Formats: sequence, structure tokens, C-alpha cells
Amino acid sequence: MFGRFALGGTTALAGAGVLLGGQARADSDNLDPPHYPWAHRGAFSSFDAASLRRGFEVYRLVCATCHSLDKFSFRNLVGVTHTEDQTKRVAAAFKIKDGPNDQGEMYERPGRLTDGFPKPYENKEAGRYANNGAFPPDLSLMVKARGRTEDYIVALLTGYRDPPFGQVLRPGNYSNVYMPGGTTSMPKQLSDGLVDYEDGTPATETQMAKDVAIFLAWTAEPCHDAQKLTGVKFLTCLGALTVLSLGLKRWKWLSQKTRRITFIPPLASRLRSLGRTLPGDKPPGQ
Ligand code: HEC
Repeated sequence: MFGRFALGGTTALAGAGVLLGGQARADSDNLDPPHYPWAHRGAFSSFDAASLRRGFEVYRLVCATCHSLDKFSFRNLVGVTHTEDQTKRVAAAFKIKDGPNDQGEMYERPGRLTDGFPKPYENKEAGRYANNGAFPPDLSLMVKARGRTEDYIVALLTGYRDPPFGQVLRPGNYSNVYMPGGTTSMPKQLSDGLVDYEDGTPATETQMAKDVAIFLAWTAEPCHDAQKLTGVKFLTCLGALTVLSLGLKRWKWLSQKTRRITFIPPLASRLRSLGRTLPGDKPPGQ
């Protein structure tokens, strides 16, 4: 029975892998995510700012219900996805628990720029309790956490399939060909038209997956753009200095490299080389 299930599962995974362009390994129960051509991967390219803004929208409206972004405060969005005024409005829409007040009680107030993104659950236990025993992990560094990059986020969010033949899912588990183990406790989150993008981009499932993956790539590496810019500046200066120093070297060596050294032998040896005998020379043959 188990053998048949395993065979069925592996065949289904391998088949799905071929269809989806992912890779299936015989010793693995899930597919490797396909490699997507991310625009920000180019040596001189930055994150797509419009996509980052849409990705934050997907995180805020969908993922934030269950996932925290521990390493981030609202102020981190200023100049990246929103202007300062817009970010203040975004923050104010969140209710932040604060306190205690002078009566010793906790209270809720609108969020400020300096507040961290609010956590969806008070503690891990509450998170597990609400999600069939599986805690939704923090997403700040998720793109780097699994050694699988943002490809994994897109693949995971769009990788829900019918379970392989013979596999019986436990209640609260869903079949996902990219999740290690082939099943996950995270229900399918994205479906076409789930959010309304303010820039009018059609919110298809794959568009939202791409946008939130780019947003999470940014949260995992917020210095990405600044680092590339520094790299470009550094290389430009290095190039200019290289040209300058090559010119300087040429100039310094000019007198040495263009100098011609000619040896003019003394007159006596020149005459002798022409076969003349000079006074005092021994006559030839003696
Ligand atoms: C209803 C709650 C819920 C929502 C909403 C939700 N998730 Fe999850 N997510 C979970 C749970 C639960 C897990 C843990 C799954 C497991 O370990 O089986 C999880 C796990 C993950 C993981 C880690 C997978 C791994 O390799 O361990 C990623 C990445 C993820 N979610 C991304 C997202 C993104 C992006 C969104 C928004 C589009 C989102 N989730 C929305 C509940 C949710």
C-alpha cells in the first residue's frame, strides 16, 4: 500500500515537474522551484519600485493576517514603497497596542512611523492554535531562509495542486508540490482579483505572487539597491583612476622609453676595423 502511494506520489511530482519546468529528484518529496527571470538580478538593476509597492499591498492585505515582519518598522517603507505622508497614513490605519496608561491599562492607538509592523499573534502558541498546530514563520528573512530565493515564494504561493494519487491529506493540510514534504498547513492564499491594485495592474494570482516575492526579497536585503549604486560609483571611480594612472605612467616613462642609445666606437678602432694599420701597431703577420 505504502509502495503504491510512494510510487504514485513520485510519478505525480515528476510529471508536475516536467509540466511546470521545475526539477524533481528521485530522493525528494517536492520540486525545486523554477528559476524566474527577476529584473532586479541584473548587475546594474534595482528593485522594481512599483512592484515593491504592490507587493507591500499584498503583504498588508493577505499575508499580515498570519505572518509577522519582525525586522521592519513603518518608517522603513519611506522612500521605498511610499512617501513619508503616505506611510504615515498607512501606519495610522493599523491599531497598535501601547501602554500601560496612568491607570495601568494597555490601550490601542493608531500606528506611527516608528512602530514595528504589528504581529498577528500574541505568541507562538496562539499562532499554532489558530493554524492547526503550524506556526506561520516570520517573513522578514524568508527569501534567504530556505536557501531557495524569491523563486520559492512564487512557486510556493502558486504550487497548490490536487494531492498525488493515493495520498490522504490530514485535515488542515494542503498539497503543495514545492513545500518540503509535499503538504503544508498554509491554505492557498492567492486567487485572481483578490486585491485591487491602486495603479490598475490586473491582480492575477501570479502577478500578486511575483509582487509579494519582490517585496520579501527587499525585506531580506533592504540595502540591495544602495549596495549596487555604491558598486557602480566605486567601479566608475576605479575606471577613471586606472585611466589616469596609465596616462601618468606613460608620461613619466616617456623620456626613458623614447631615448635612443647609440654606441659610437673611438676613431682608432673604426680605422682598424677598416683594415688600416696605425703607427705603433704591429705589422700584420708578425
Ligand atoms: C491563514 C494564515 C496564513 C496566511 C494568510 C498566509 N500564510 Fe504563509 N504560512 C501559514 C502557515 C500556517 C505556515 C506554516 C506552514 C507549514 O509549516 O506547514 C506558513 C508558511 C509560509 C511560508 C514558509 C514555508 C516554508 O518553507 O516553511 C512562506 C514563505 C509563507 N507562508 C508565505 C506566505 C505569503 C507570502 C503569504 C501572503 C501572500 C502568506 N504566507 C499568507 C499561514 C498563512
